[in-house]
Amino acid sequence: MNAFHDRRIVLGISGGIAAYKAVEVCRRLVDAGAYVSPILTEDAHRFIGPVTFSALASEPVHTSLWDDASPIPHTRLGQNADVIVVAPATARIISAYATGSSYDLLTATLIATRAPVVICPAMHTEMWEHPAVQHNIEVLRSRGVIIVDPQEGRLAGGDIGAGRLADPDTIVGAVESVLSGRGHDLAGLSVVVTAGGTREPIDAVRVIANRSSGKQGYAIAEEAHKRGASVTLISTVDRPTLSGISVIEVETAAQMLHAVEQHAPQSDVVVMTAAVADFRPVHVADGKIKKHNGIPEIRLEPTPDILAALGASKSTGQVLVGFAAETDDVVDNARGKLKKKNLDLIVANDVSAPGVGFGHSTNAVTIISVDGSETFVPLADKHTIATAVLDSVLAVRTALRPQ
Ligand code: PMT
Repeated sequence: MNAFHDRRIVLGISGGIAAYKAVEVCRRLVDAGAYVSPILTEDAHRFIGPVTFSALASEPVHTSLWDDASPIPHTRLGQNADVIVVAPATARIISAYATGSSYDLLTATLIATRAPVVICPAMHTEMWEHPAVQHNIEVLRSRGVIIVDPQEGRLAGGDIGAGRLADPDTIVGAVESVLSGRGHDLAGLSVVVTAGGTREPIDAVRVIANRSSGKQGYAIAEEAHKRGASVTLISTVDRPTLSGISVIEVETAAQMLHAVEQHAPQSDVVVMTAAVADFRPVHVADGKIKKHNGIPEIRLEPTPDILAALGASKSTGQVLVGFAAETDDVVDNARGKLKKKNLDLIVANDVSAPGVGFGHSTNAVTIISVDGSETFVPLADKHTIATAVLDSVLAVRTALRPQ
């Protein structure tokens, strides 16, 4: 079931140049099936008009404490909301919300709600980095408010720096995560995910490859990002993804090993979804091997086992997740890999089953934990599988935490 379907979202828009981006956020939330009630502050009017939101939103646009006499709007909107998202949130709105001061409909709604709140700050770098603003952000975070951090980039007036409103994908993803009940439960974690199949060169044009599309790895990276993690995706495939994810492109097992070695040591979670070739040619021909010279003999050697190397050097508290692509004795074989590679979790998929594994948009998996527990996730979209894998990662982290 779509997390947005029939859910009530209050979209607060405060006065900043990024207010125009709230139009796209509004459109996406409505398209996803939510009832969206926009609230524009007086300052937001200077950047964007209520008519634009009236044309897009499913619910009336509110601009003032006094534009809806009965019943009292400052409590009604907040009481009925499943989530409130403020994008962009100015330093002033953040300060008012942190200190509990109410001076207009948006601040009153924020204070008169028990719904989860997502704040998406946007302002100049100097303002964003000011200790008072950072203090207010920390106060809100400590109360459970979800902060979608601004990005670095071009700001109003041509300056470049931190303070640019997160992109609509990231904002909508954070709201989705709240509506699905998970919120930013991975906030503060750094997650490395590998995706796709490695390509091992034979000559200048030919490679040994496999059928991995990268869909499962990308789904894990995207779900982790939506749940607030800082995500590095090491990938052999060129697929579109959420802009907050840092993507490192690689091709061979050796390049993937190098990238993993750079990023894994300082990460909290590593998920090896990639289908790494087990063998590669010992010699790579310089040019193209010519057909008229006869059938070549290609000698193979094993590639480095990236996951086994990670297992051997795992730091305390780090959660290491492998995948196992199997066709028979699926769970037993996966258990063997879990033990041999010193993993916390292994995700076994029977890649001979219809709709499972390589290339499909769906998968079916058994998530096996080092404590012996098994969770079977029947055939589902790869994002649903990703959610289940990340839930298991959190369960392992909780179990590892000192009592
Ligand atoms: O990309 P998709 O089309 O969405 O398909 C998803 C998938 C089928 C590729 C994915 O679900 C999956 O099963 N990935 C693991 C594939 C695989 O290589 O399995 P394996 O059983 O051979 O390897 C076990 C683990 O060791 C894997 O986590 C693998 O990344 C790792 N490994 C393997 C060999 C090697 N040299 N180094 C490794 O790190």
